Amino acid sequence: MKPDGKRFGVIGDPIEHSLSPALFAGFFERFKLHDRCRYEAFRVRAEELLQFVAWARRELAGFNVTIPHKERITAHLDGLDPTARALGAVNVVANRSGELWGFNTDVAGFLAPLRARKLDGALRGKRAVVLGAGGAARAVVFALQALGVREVVLANRTRERAARLARWAQDQAHGLTVTPVALEGGALKDALSGAALLVNATPVGMWPRVDASPLPPKALEGLHEGLIVYDLVYNPRETRLLREARARGAVVVDGLGMLVAQALEALKIWLPELVDVDEEALKRALQRHL
Ligand SMILES: NC(=O)c1ccc[n+]([C@@H]2O[C@H](COP(=O)([O-])OP(=O)(O)OC[C@H]3O[C@@H](n4cnc5c(N)ncnc54)[C@H](OP(=O)(O)O)[C@@H]3O)[C@@H](O)[C@H]2O)c1
Repeated sequence: MKPDGKRFGVIGDPIEHSLSPALFAGFFERFKLHDRCRYEAFRVRAEELLQFVAWARRELAGFNVTIPHKERITAHLDGLDPTARALGAVNVVANRSGELWGFNTDVAGFLAPLRARKLDGALRGKRAVVLGAGGAARAVVFALQALGVREVVLANRTRERAARLARWAQDQAHGLTVTPVALEGGALKDALSGAALLVNATPVGMWPRVDASPLPPKALEGLHEGLIVYDLVYNPRETRLLREARARGAVVVDGLGMLVAQALEALKIWLPELVDVDEEALKRALQRHL
């Protein structure tokens, strides 16, 4: 890297399996930035976070944040963009002359594939079902209220966590109704029957446990023709959930588009001069790196 080059990275614990270094290597190569920009993975334990932030302030132009630091890091930054503030979670930090600013690109990343396929308009005034109640589910609920979805039914293994997310969404006061239901039992199937969208925001179905599905067998009958089924899992691209949904006539969206889009949003924050990129050509090029 040239002496005036920029260093970027991703922090998490564990971090070995992160796809971000490959993704950003692909971006830098595509934009002919590979001799000016470098991207590294840093394993940072919870007790090392403060020390890392002080070091990053001097050494890094920006970094991504993943589990378990997305929420805790907000307390150590100089400012947050409105989405990160609303979510209470940061996945991108930009160093602006020594000030560290936090952003959340998961919302824009989630919306990008729906918009690219013109599926977003069909969701206004409709019901969505979300599986999971962690950080990704929170970003999904936030994005769905921006799309004008009328009602979200939330099903999570730990019911109290779903109830907490529902309370958070009601507090945002955007007119969205959020109803927690049990994963097991008939309510999930009934909710799905009248829904326009199902989102899997759990890791269930991810490699290596590819035979698992986040949807209990009892709820499978709720999958129907025209339902949009969006799995945030990107490895494998076609999960068991997406396979079963496709067989029942659903429209399926895999997690790779979101992965690429949220990373591209980060790149635009770090290097705003790249804003006029041909995103579709870039995504095609990047997919070869995964
Ligand atoms: N495509 C993308 O760009 C993208 C972006 C962000 C996230 N994701 C994916 O989304 C998933 C969730 O991420 P996150 O950040 O929200 O994680 P998180 O905060 O740890 O939340 C995980 C959620 O999944 C549930 N869960 C975990 N294991 C489960 C199991 N065996 N059975 C049923 N439920 C289970 C948890 O339920 P409990 O509350 O009961 O523990 C929780 O609701 C991950 O697979 C991640 O890779 C993808």
